[in-house]
Amino acid sequence: MINHPHRQRAAVTRYCKERRIALDVREDGWLLVLGNGRERHLIFGYDLGLNSAVAHRIACDKAATSALLAASGVPAVPHALFLAPTVTGVSAPAWTTMLELIETHPTGLVVKPNEGTSGRAVTRVRTSAELKDALTQIFETGASAAIAPLLEIADEVRVIMLDGAPLIVYRKLRPVVTGDGLHSLRDLALQAVPVEQQSRLLRRLAVEFDASTLQAIIPQGEQRLLSWRHNLEFGAQPVLLTEGPLRETCTALARDAARAVDIRYASVDVVMADGQWQVLEINSGVKMEALGEYAPELVEEATFAALDAIFGCRPSGSTAGPPDIPQ
Ligand SMILES: Nc1ncnc2c1ncn2[C@@H]1O[C@H](COP(=O)(O)OP(=O)(O)O)[C@@H](O)[C@H]1O
Ligand SMILES: [Mg+2]
Repeated sequence: MINHPHRQRAAVTRYCKERRIALDVREDGWLLVLGNGRERHLIFGYDLGLNSAVAHRIACDKAATSALLAASGVPAVPHALFLAPTVTGVSAPAWTTMLELIETHPTGLVVKPNEGTSGRAVTRVRTSAELKDALTQIFETGASAAIAPLLEIADEVRVIMLDGAPLIVYRKLRPVVTGDGLHSLRDLALQAVPVEQQSRLLRRLAVEFDASTLQAIIPQGEQRLLSWRHNLEFGAQPVLLTEGPLRETCTALARDAARAVDIRYASVDVVMADGQWQVLEINSGVKMEALGEYAPELVEEATFAALDAIFGCRPSGSTAGPPDIPQ
């Protein structure tokens, strides 16, 4: 299951073995207790425990993050916060304010769980009925929603930062098929993946498209996106950026964003839209499970670097020995 921090746990296990640090795995791998006595350190889920509680909470809150970044002069996609009736105690959500948003953004809005991840329940809406449906669904299980203007995103880049330095930078390329004038969107999509991945793909396509769009023949040479979202969990592929101006630009913006939130270890997603790079979101829990399918060694290196920051080690390649933590 992509949600479980399997790779992170494997990297932590290897790190602890190499550095002779005791490791106690609890709660089916969600809670890790490293070291003991004076040097005890806790990891919970994707929270490696490097960030302050307030930085973690702000990063988990898309509306708070965008407000703080805007106030700090860091370009960010605006996200308006709406609380569920179960939280406000008022019987109905603030429909009037929400519907005004539709009027001021005729090209559309994106509605999402304010504390969501992995693209789940992130929905494009263009009408008030769609907006109400999307919010009702989110409020059934969540406490709050964030609403952003729908942007034409030309590019999305993730920068995984540790103490102001980029550990991994990659573009997210959305899955695309090219028509041949013979096959449907569904068939072209299926042809592009191995048999064992086809049922997962079909489930994703059913969420993205209605039946007639899936069955329609794509004209020769025309391209169709298989997901409008840039999440790897929805089929986007990571393309590593190891150097160059794009990496520099995105890293500089991510660094400004991390500084504004006062966060040490985070993944910062930046998007090119309306002719400028802007921050879409910051994740305090650095989820690298899907990236690990493409670049397992980088995921391990990044986890090791974060753990070195916790245990006060020098970067790898230094002559420093393992930390003095008893097994
Ligand atoms: N305002 C927006 N305009 C256009 N696309 C968006 C917008 N917000 C999100 N998306 C798309 O949806 C994806 C998931 O949204 P995001 O805010 O990152 O939520 P999550 O935390 O669930 O990944 C993004 O990668 C992007 O492709
Ligand atoms: Mg995202």
